[in-house]
Amino acid sequence: EIIDATGLHVLPGAIDDHVHFRDPGYPQKEDFASGTAAAAFGGVTTVFDMPNTLPTVENAHALAEKHAIAAAKAHVDYGLYGVLGETSIDNVAALIEGGVIGFKLYMGNTFGRIPTPSTGAMLEAFEAVAPTGKRISLHAETNSVMERREAKLRKAGRIEPLAHLDSRPEVVAIEAVSRAAILAEWTGARIHILHISSAGELRPLAEGKARGVDITGETCPHYLFLSTDDYSRCGGIIRVNPPVREARNQGPIWAALVDGAIDVIATDHAPHAIEEKMRRDIWTVDCGFPGVETQMPLMLTAIAQGRASICDYVRWSAANPARIWGLYPRKGVIQVGADADIVVVDLGRRWTIRDRDLHSRGKASPWDGYDVQGLPLHTIVRGRFVLKDRVLQPGTCGWGRSVHSIQTMPPPKPANVQQTTTAILSSGTRT
Ligand code: DOR
Ligand code: ZN
Ligand code: ZN
Repeated sequence: EIIDATGLHVLPGAIDDHVHFRDPGYPQKEDFASGTAAAAFGGVTTVFDMPNTLPTVENAHALAEKHAIAAAKAHVDYGLYGVLGETSIDNVAALIEGGVIGFKLYMGNTFGRIPTPSTGAMLEAFEAVAPTGKRISLHAETNSVMERREAKLRKAGRIEPLAHLDSRPEVVAIEAVSRAAILAEWTGARIHILHISSAGELRPLAEGKARGVDITGETCPHYLFLSTDDYSRCGGIIRVNPPVREARNQGPIWAALVDGAIDVIATDHAPHAIEEKMRRDIWTVDCGFPGVETQMPLMLTAIAQGRASICDYVRWSAANPARIWGLYPRKGVIQVGADADIVVVDLGRRWTIRDRDLHSRGKASPWDGYDVQGLPLHTIVRGRFVLKDRVLQPGTCGWGRSVHSIQTMPPPKPANVQQTTTAILSSGTRT
């Protein structure tokens, strides 16, 4: 098949290592077909699906069920996460055997009511995964802190949007990132900090890297482009965990991306049905919104405005996630032929995002009405057009394959914990 790409740009397809496609369990929100179609429209050729589906992906049986669903419905390639919690520590080997791309550990509340492990259980979980070399992605917010704050606000009858912000001060995330980095250092586990939302998290992330911890970081477009100033415009639609923060955080997060402290742009694509987002009581609005389809246009708009270079963007969206997850160079670079995962974009095209036009079933996003510049026209997955001239190609439902079979994650080298611990202790006394 030949296309005329005159004046267009060819980029590696994006790898979104953080999506919630809701299948099985919540078809009113999304399924694997609608979610991966949205990905194709967004120039995303690989997605990693989170395990807070129904049943939770915490054992080999639930994983096999999701593999069957994804294999039948996916338009793009995918990896599947397994949950790492108190009840699944003993299932680590079986989940790896069953083909997970990595593990997800929830330190804070999420959709789907997955219990958060104690620090002791977390240590055991890290110890179980470390020798396997698989990476652990963390929702790094400390539950006990959030719950106490939120209970207080509810009791006081605070139901306006602002109350939600107050319930999760940045220290909730800063403490969690710090604790995760220390446990990773102690056990040698590889970790990935999801959805970095505040400037405060950057310090434990950078310090962990400096100490030699295999810790990587991700942020999402909503923490770069939205802030608490957008609550009045968006209402409950903007509710997301972690919440968008004060605008002063955006500059440091951008800077951390550019200087390499944050490695990855992902979306936390978390669609909900419109009535689930529009509830009058803000406390009952489901958290999250779709993002897999709008990440590339939003980021390319910022690139066009000079915030960073197109090479930076390719690093965040494709090359870095491929390296971090052991898929490089099979994914994350421009290939030709049967391995090509590429997106052909018109960097000059100006258009307006409309929620009703999204291909996700979640039609409530904070991006409705955003003027953007940059449109994916053709998306090619392993050499085959999945999207061509903005048309989803017939017969591509089921073309997507699990990438766990091409993943190589050698066991990490043991960390020299004693040395670093001594250094931390002595630097603490040097005043
Ligand atoms: O806003 C969120 N939505 N945060 C999460 O942690 C989960 C996600 C979801 O699954 O809806
Ligand atoms: Zn999360
Ligand atoms: Zn998430």
